[in-house]
Amino acid sequence: MYKTMNVLAITALLAELAVAWPVHTSTLPPTTPDEYYISFGPRPYYLIQNMTESPLKKKLESCENGPFEITAWSIGHRGGGTLQIPEETVESTMAGARMGAGILECDVSFTSDLGLVCRHSLCDLHTTTDILLRPELAAKCTTPFTPANETSDATALCCTSDITKDEFMSLCSKMDGFNASATTPEDYQHGVPFFRTELYDTCAQVMSLDSYIELVDSLPGYRNFTPELKTPPKQVPMPFNGYTQAQYSRDMIETFISHGIDPIRVFPQSFTPADIYLWLNEYPEWGAQAVFLDEDGDDPANFTTAVNRLPALKASGVNIISPPINYLLAVGGPNNDTIVPSDYAIAAKKAGLDIISWSFERSGPLTRVAADDDYYYSSVAPVVHYDGQMYEILDLMAREIGLKGMFSDWSSTVTYYANCFGLKGPGN
Ligand SMILES: *[C@@H]1O[C@H](CO)[C@@H](O)[C@H](O)[C@H]1NC(C)=O
Ligand SMILES: *[C@@H]1O[C@H](CO)[C@@H](O)[C@H](O)[C@H]1NC(C)=O
Ligand SMILES: *[C@@H]1O[C@H](CO)[C@@H](O)[C@H](O)[C@H]1NC(C)=O
Ligand SMILES: *[C@@H]1O[C@H](CO)[C@@H](O)[C@H](O)[C@H]1NC(C)=O
Ligand SMILES: *[C@@H]1O[C@H](CO)[C@@H](O)[C@H](O)[C@H]1NC(C)=O
Repeated sequence: MYKTMNVLAITALLAELAVAWPVHTSTLPPTTPDEYYISFGPRPYYLIQNMTESPLKKKLESCENGPFEITAWSIGHRGGGTLQIPEETVESTMAGARMGAGILECDVSFTSDLGLVCRHSLCDLHTTTDILLRPELAAKCTTPFTPANETSDATALCCTSDITKDEFMSLCSKMDGFNASATTPEDYQHGVPFFRTELYDTCAQVMSLDSYIELVDSLPGYRNFTPELKTPPKQVPMPFNGYTQAQYSRDMIETFISHGIDPIRVFPQSFTPADIYLWLNEYPEWGAQAVFLDEDGDDPANFTTAVNRLPALKASGVNIISPPINYLLAVGGPNNDTIVPSDYAIAAKKAGLDIISWSFERSGPLTRVAADDDYYYSSVAPVVHYDGQMYEILDLMAREIGLKGMFSDWSSTVTYYANCFGLKGPGN
């Protein structure tokens, strides 16, 4: 019966159900309208075909014809089409949505007039947009373009805070990349990693936080939001002309409130503890679903500290911890040659934290993990050799570690898996 309800009715029903964390969504209605088809393309099938024979491979093969539903276990990283389509754009978000991601991400940065816009870093406009080809805007960059010469690489640094929101909205988005040898701004535009593509560098549409909220809210099916409040880089010291990090973190939540979005649909993220605690104190319903992004164990010397801190984070009100994939995996087993849950994963689970991780499909072919010093598989690089291992690793995280959601740069890979195992996403 729920299939015939419209999105508003479902939202209202969810609001009624949303009495306390955790939300027991076994009572939730199906998320995918009858007339909306999610679409995967060949990639999940390619990955399954490359697996060695196992019960997992058989199970995944048995799901090949669906039925498939939108699932919040599948989180569109920078939109969800980021492997091939410019990140943080309408096009990437539409791609993630079509591939069944139930949660779609916008990284929230601010402009010179304190507009909130979707961009992964405050200062990546020179590599993710055409700003250097727009002389009147390029002139406003923190560091304008300087060509490469015999001794130095080309340089540029353009920040959202260098331009107004209207100026930002006039930019074209492109795949993240640059050519360090460039002697002209035109040449500087290229240089994406070989496994991505410039096929969709056709002026992808940038988004403000407002337009992202409107877009995601208008998509077919039940979709949730995950805005990440960016911590400005050192080139944009805070407070920025009096604008504090605290006000910025409030403004992000207030934008959702002004659009009438129910907090149960929003998973606000930050790497900065103060942002999370501000939401817990001032916006408790929003703070309850806040996602604490953890990269404090990147230095191996600090990893144990990051593990030991987990119970205190839970005690301080954090419900969802979000480390990168490599934090959750270790090499172990009887012959020390298999992938097992890491101490971090075990401790997070024991502390009662929900775990969401990032980012699947960001690394390119797994054949190159060791040679390319890939970050996301770094803790298991000696035993990662081919793409079919992706689903083995995802399965370990899902079923042994109990992951509540996975960010992915190409949503179909994760949506397919989540459907095959009936995974519904955070709060379940
Ligand atoms: C998986 O791909 C690798 C190359 O990346 C190949 O060597 C291997 O044979 C493939 N495995 C299967 C089962 O197809
Ligand atoms: C090369 O570029 C650097 C940085 O822009 C500059 O300091 C240096 O003088 C240039 N060298 C030559 C030979 O032009
Ligand atoms: C990078 O820039 C150099 C110098 O302008 C140019 O020769 C080269 O073709 C460019 N590479 C790419 C991938 O665009
Ligand atoms: C490791 O922890 C120390 C002490 O807290 C800190 O000063 C240092 O910056 C940390 N290193 C990294 C890479 O986070
Ligand atoms: C297991 O293998 C990993 C990675 O290959 C290595 O770092 C670790 O020291 C090994 N542990 C034991 C107990 O041999």
